[in-house]
Amino acid sequence: MTQPRLLGLSGSLRRASNSTAVLRGLHDALAPRAALSIFALHGIPLYNEDDDGEHAPESVRALRSAIETSDGLIMISPEYNHGMSGVLKNALDWASRPFGRSALRGKPVLTMTTSPAFTGGVRAQQQMNETLVAMPARLVLRPQIVIGGVHEKVSDGRLVDEAALRFALAGVDDLLDEVRAARFLRAAA
Ligand SMILES: Cc1cc2nc3c(=O)[nH]c(=O)nc-3n(C[C@H](O)[C@H](O)[C@H](O)COP(=O)(O)O)c2cc1C
Repeated sequence: MTQPRLLGLSGSLRRASNSTAVLRGLHDALAPRAALSIFALHGIPLYNEDDDGEHAPESVRALRSAIETSDGLIMISPEYNHGMSGVLKNALDWASRPFGRSALRGKPVLTMTTSPAFTGGVRAQQQMNETLVAMPARLVLRPQIVIGGVHEKVSDGRLVDEAALRFALAGVDDLLDEVRAARFLRAAA
């Protein structure tokens, strides 16, 4: 199979975000097996149905197009008050519209969460998965990837902890299996 193109979305806009650092670590560890590009959500406005449709904001059209042209996605969020970050939820709401034309429909998606706490954001991940099922994305169903104590596993803006990287990469292997299955189904259709 040609090199899969994966898209990474981080639910944190923080410059020193540990969640984004996980995506950077995965980017390095995956090359050249798969290409992971990170789409920064800084420019995505708050969802407003009045502004949606054919003339959606340029940043939103860029997000939808990046999702559509990817083979699969890795979404990672910090846990904010036991839920996913508003930044990520807002981006997913834009990506799910216009109604019936969700950019995420049938798209393989792997979710992950991070937290400095030992719980690793597991409660937020439950919420992410429920939202993605509504879109409806092709969620990678597997034991959750939660990275607790994440602040001790990151250095220079990258996940460097070997065990955490291995744990996350096992999930990416499952995502790549879903990408292959989705390609097979498209070719057979
Ligand atoms: C508004 C807010 C709510 C938070 N709620 C939780 C929480 O419910 N559970 C948790 O483990 N951490 C919580 N945290 C701590 C975040 O996990 C921590 O700030 C984390 O580093 C943010 O992710 P980032 O490094 O990717 O920016 C919260 C932080 C903020 C700012």
